[in-house]
Order: sequence, then C-alpha cells, then structure tokens
Amino acid sequence: MEPKTPKDSSTIVTDLVLPSETNPIGNMFGGELLARMDRAASIAARRHSRRIVVTVSVNHVAFNKMIPLGSVVTVEAKISRAFKSSMEIYMDVWIEDRESGLRSKANEAIYTFVAVDEMGSPVVVPQLIPETKQEKKRFEAALRRKQLSLVLAGKMEAKHATELKALFE
Ligand SMILES: CC(C)(COP(=O)(O)OP(=O)(O)OC[C@H]1O[C@@H](n2cnc3c(N)ncnc32)[C@H](O)[C@@H]1OP(=O)(O)O)[C@@H](O)C(=O)NCCC(=O)NCCS
Repeated sequence: MEPKTPKDSSTIVTDLVLPSETNPIGNMFGGELLARMDRAASIAARRHSRRIVVTVSVNHVAFNKMIPLGSVVTVEAKISRAFKSSMEIYMDVWIEDRESGLRSKANEAIYTFVAVDEMGSPVVVPQLIPETKQEKKRFEAALRRKQLSLVLAGKMEAKHATELKALFE
C-alpha cells in the first residue's frame, strides 16, 4: 500500500452558522460544531484510506472562542498520523471577519477514526508521511495521544503506555 501525505486527504468544509444552530446567547451550539468536525474528519479519513471509516474516539476538543450567529466557519481536517487501522485527524476551525475577510482561529480538535470492512472489522490503512513542520510535530505527538486515549478508554494498561511514561522520566 502506497504511503500518502496529509495533503492527499486534506478536507476543507465551509458553512454559515444559522439561527437553529445557536445557543440562547446567539453563539454556535457546541454539538453543531462537533458534528461538522466529525463530518470533515470522516471525509479526510475516507480519502486517506479509501475505505468505510467510523469514529472511534474524540480525543480532544478546545472551544476557545465563541462563534456568533451568521459566522462563516471553516473546518480544515488533516490526517496527522496513520497507525494500523486507525487514523488521527487534526482539525483547525477558522472564522472569517465579514468586512476584512481575514480568518482567525476559533477552535481545534483531534478525532480518531478506524477503517473497517463491510462487516465492521478493522482493516489496514496506508501510512502517512508528514511534510510540513507542523505536520511533523503533530505526527510525533500522535502516538502519545493514542496511548492516552486507549488508557482513558480502559483499552490499555497505563504501565504499557511507554510514550506517556517517557514524559515523566
Ligand atoms: C472502531 C471499532 C471497529 C474498533 O474495533 P475493536 O475491536 O476495538 O478493534 P481494535 O481493538 O483492533 O481497534 C482498532 C484500532 O482502533 C484503535 N482504538 C480503539 N479504541 C481507541 C480509542 N479509544 N482511542 C484511540 N484509538 C482506539 C486501536 O488502537 C486500533 O488501532 P490500530 O489498528 O491502528 O493499532 C469498534 O470499536 C466499533 O465499531 N466502534 C463503534 C464505531 C462507531 O459506530 N462510531 C460511531 C459512533 S456513533
């Protein structure tokens, strides 16, 4: 299987915030953004693996900035690392100033997807070769995040999380 780069599957989804997608103080409802990010991540994971993909974990979400009604919101999803059947997808969320058109970073998130066959069993995905400085940094830290996610999900014993242990040595 040929390795791929993050740009091979990079996915950009831009959409408005409508009234039905806001909370009582007129800002975007968190669950709406989570759903948009899940869709963008799923497209990126599908482009990378060319398989059926399912969300296995939402590893990290930071809601740093409120997103007002009417905002133009862009979710950029990129594979940050591919393991055997799982892929970590890193998302940056931008909002666009109405007058200047300048983009500012609103949020970011990290999801993990697994490629599966028609029976729902995990299948092997192509490896990822990071290219830019940021892609290399995210790639390097992804194994640590995977181990943390597995420990928190009760799927790995903390004593086997070598990357996490290394942080405290
Ligand atoms: C995803 C799924 C197929 C994995 O099945 P499984 O029996 O746990 O398979 P495995 O243990 O081999 O795990 C598959 C991969 O997922 C990774 N994984 C599993 N749980 C994880 C978690 N919480 N965080 C990060 N990675 C995880 C494993 O490390 C493994 O990665 P690798 O193959 O790259 O090394 C299964 O859990 C599933 O179907 N989940 C439901 C998915 C779904 O419906 N999502 C939408 C929710 S509405």
